[in-house]
Amino acid sequence: MITQEPRRIGVLTSGGDAPGMNAAIRAVVRSALAHRWEVLGIRQGYTGLIDANFQRLDARSVGGIIDRGGTVLGTSRCERLKSDEGCSAAIRQIETLRLDTLIVIGGNGTHEGARKLARHGAHIIAIASTIDNDLPSSDVAIGATTALDTALDAIDRLRVTASAHRRVFLVEVMGRDSGHLALAAGIAGGAEAIVLPEIEQEAEAIAAQIVAAYDRGKSHAIVVVAEGARYNADALANHFHTHRERLGFELRVTKLGHIQRGGAPRIQDRIIASQLGAAAAEHAVAGEFGLTLGIVNGKVTSTPLAALNGALRPLDRRLFELAQTLAQ
Ligand code: F6P
Repeated sequence: MITQEPRRIGVLTSGGDAPGMNAAIRAVVRSALAHRWEVLGIRQGYTGLIDANFQRLDARSVGGIIDRGGTVLGTSRCERLKSDEGCSAAIRQIETLRLDTLIVIGGNGTHEGARKLARHGAHIIAIASTIDNDLPSSDVAIGATTALDTALDAIDRLRVTASAHRRVFLVEVMGRDSGHLALAAGIAGGAEAIVLPEIEQEAEAIAAQIVAAYDRGKSHAIVVVAEGARYNADALANHFHTHRERLGFELRVTKLGHIQRGGAPRIQDRIIASQLGAAAAEHAVAGEFGLTLGIVNGKVTSTPLAALNGALRPLDRRLFELAQTLAQ
C-alpha cells in the first residue's frame, strides 16, 4: 500500500518583529492542522531557512502565545538572501524540507525576499506585518496598531510634563522610510507639528510653527518626528538650539525607539493576525501561492507578489493637512 507523505507548510517571521506575529503563527499552524497539513516553524527568519534551523509545530506548541509580543520563532534581517548563493541555498532547503508552501510574515524586506524566492520557483505566501505600516498591499499591517498605541501613550505622557514646564518636546518615532506611524501618532496626539520623510519640510518652517504655538499662548508643543525624516530629532534639535531665544519654549528630545516594537498585541492586531494567518494556510491548502495577504477596506485581500515593485504605501496627505489645521 502506498502511503502519501503529508503536505507541509513552512512558516517564518522576518525583519523587525511586530506585535501580533505570534497570533499569525498560531493561526497558520492551527488552520493548516485542521486540513491535516504539517507545519514546520523556521527559526530566525530567512537565516534559519538557509541554515535549516526549524522545529515541527503542533497545536499545543502555539498555545499561550496569542497575547505575546515579539515572535516565538525569532527573526532576523538576512543579508545572505540578497546574494545569488544565499537565494539558491534557501531554494534548496525549501526542497529538502519538502515544503509545499512557505508562509513568510513581515514587512518590506521580507516581501522583497519573498518576491525573489517566488521568482526562483518557490511557492510563497507573504503576510503584511510591520509597525511602519508601509506595505502597499495592506491598509493596516499586523503590529501597526499596537505600535501606534504605544507611541500615543508616550506622547500623552510627554504632553503632561511639557505643559508643566512650558517645553517643546521633539518625539522621534520609528519609520525608517515612511511616516505612517508618525502621522497617525501626531494627529491622534494633537501634535503642534509632524515631520515626515514623505513631505519636504525645512527646519526653519518647523521652528516657525513652534514659535507661533508659543505666541498663541500654548503651554507646550509636541513635534512628532519620523526617524527617517530629512530633519530627524537630532537634526531638528541642533537647528532649534541655535535659535533657542526665539523659540519661546525650552527644548527636550525623546526617542521612543524599540519600545514601540515591544508589548502585548492589542485586540485589532490579534484579530487581523488571526485572519491573515488562517487565510494564508487556506490559500496554501488550495494550491494558491505567489501572493501577499493584507487588509484592504476592512477585508482580507490577496495581491500577487509580482505586482509589488518595492514602492511604499503612499501617505494620506489630507491627514497631514488636517493635522496642521487642527494644531492651532
Ligand atoms: O521594523 C521596522 C523598523 O522598526 C523601522 O521603523 C526601524 O527603522 C527599524 O525597524 C529598526 O530596525 P532594527 O531593529 O534592525 O534596528
